[in-house]
Amino acid sequence: MKIAVIGAGYVGLTTASCFAHLGHDVICADIDAERVGRLQKGEVPILEAGMPELLAEGLASQRLRFVVGAPNAVRNAEVVFLCVQTPQGDDGAADMKYVEAVAREIAPVLAPNTVVVNKSTVPVGSTLFVQRVLSEAGATDGVSVASNPEFLREGQAVRDFLNPDRIVIGCENPESAVRVSELYKGIHAPVLVTDPASAEMIKYAANAFLATKVSFINAIASMCEAVDADVREVALGIGYDARIGFQFLHPGPGWGGSCFPKDVSALLYAARNAGYEFELLQGAVDVNRAQYERMVTKVRDAVGGSLAGAVVGVWGLTFKADTDDLRDSPAVAICKRLLDEGATVQAYDPAAGEQARRLLPAVDLRADAYDAAAGADAVVLLTEWDEFRWVDFERVGAAMRKRALVDARNLLDPAAMRRRGFNYDAVGRR
Ligand code: NAD
Ligand code: UGA
Repeated sequence: MKIAVIGAGYVGLTTASCFAHLGHDVICADIDAERVGRLQKGEVPILEAGMPELLAEGLASQRLRFVVGAPNAVRNAEVVFLCVQTPQGDDGAADMKYVEAVAREIAPVLAPNTVVVNKSTVPVGSTLFVQRVLSEAGATDGVSVASNPEFLREGQAVRDFLNPDRIVIGCENPESAVRVSELYKGIHAPVLVTDPASAEMIKYAANAFLATKVSFINAIASMCEAVDADVREVALGIGYDARIGFQFLHPGPGWGGSCFPKDVSALLYAARNAGYEFELLQGAVDVNRAQYERMVTKVRDAVGGSLAGAVVGVWGLTFKADTDDLRDSPAVAICKRLLDEGATVQAYDPAAGEQARRLLPAVDLRADAYDAAAGADAVVLLTEWDEFRWVDFERVGAAMRKRALVDARNLLDPAAMRRRGFNYDAVGRR
């Protein structure tokens, strides 16, 4: 089928490359001309496993093309995927201005019978909203709108897209729903066709549930610290229960990223608007904020009670490992808190790059984990990059002012760290 994908970010680029891989003819558009130029040359602007190979394959087969400007992509498309950002607005709701702008741009050039699909995460009512904007802006009557939320995770976007747990399609028009589902031929997953409002709610419910699950295990970790239990044992013990499962039970510095915070906020806003106080979800947010603060307290304790004048080495800045994304990263928030209390912060992240310099101008960015630890009163490990497991801790310890390490991801072995003479603290562990 002929597909247009609008937005070449994490979701758009993955959607476009994967559909080309599945044999479709894809044109992907972005407004960022530099990004489009790089993609046309085969350069992947984000860190995403498997993406360079998929992009090269798509460009070589000419099934994948990149253009500047949405109207240039949609003219002959049978299905158009909207994959633009829906950031948190000032009031906490999802900001729909990018989705609306694209709908207005493409309306006059859409072929009759095109299906426009919201793949961006959008609030309940957005399928109808886009339909209305398209009509107002001159789309022909045959154009229909569907919801097809995306559940991929950054860092494993390609794998998740090609091996999803399910495909959700929300659409009032059965023919359009069939057309969207046919695009996924070759992917083995249950397809749930439902009404647009339910499809939109499924996406928010999924992210809110996962964020709540992480907050739950972080709260249990705090309890474990208070009663001298080990959260890793507890997570294992409850995870064996198939109704609970092992995933999303890793305690850490709190959840962040480009989606959980904004989507939870948007759902809380929608609930309040609907006259429902979603206290459970608000509780998950409160636990999350407190978790950031607990990490700051651990670092303060590790340096001897006051951060003023202390040197802190930070390992990891991205919101989780295997991505270069710093959006709403707990590590960034924690660095800012350490700076606020007067610490000198020297940080290393394998992927954060230039963006980190812009976001954290007061942080001294170092070339590797050893350099970030040199002369530090404590190191805090904030992102679970695998390479931090394999550093030479003798070398790290020798370079530090004091051997103190706060492992906010429970990545390291407490006994081994103590054997090496580190004052070692983790999350929810004895
Ligand atoms: P992103 O910011 O990485 O990408 C959005 C892209 O859209 C940008 O490159 C931007 O330049 C482009 N764009 C904006 N307006 C445009 C226009 N008028 N014409 C053409 N291009 C335009 O965002 P993302 O992380 O890919 O997220 C996109 C949506 O998908 C969001 O709603 C998000 O909630 C949702 N989502 C994201 C993920 C994820 O892991 N990142 C997963 C599932 C769902
Ligand atoms: C998340 C969801 O997992 C995806 O299904 C969804 O499509 C996506 O949001 C989205 O809508 O954008 P992602 O943001 O890539 O994906 O990251 P996750 O792997 O879910 O992690 C989110 C946050 O929770 C990270 O800060 C991570 O470190 C934290 N986390 C996750 C934990 O602290 N513990 C865990 O056990 C799992």
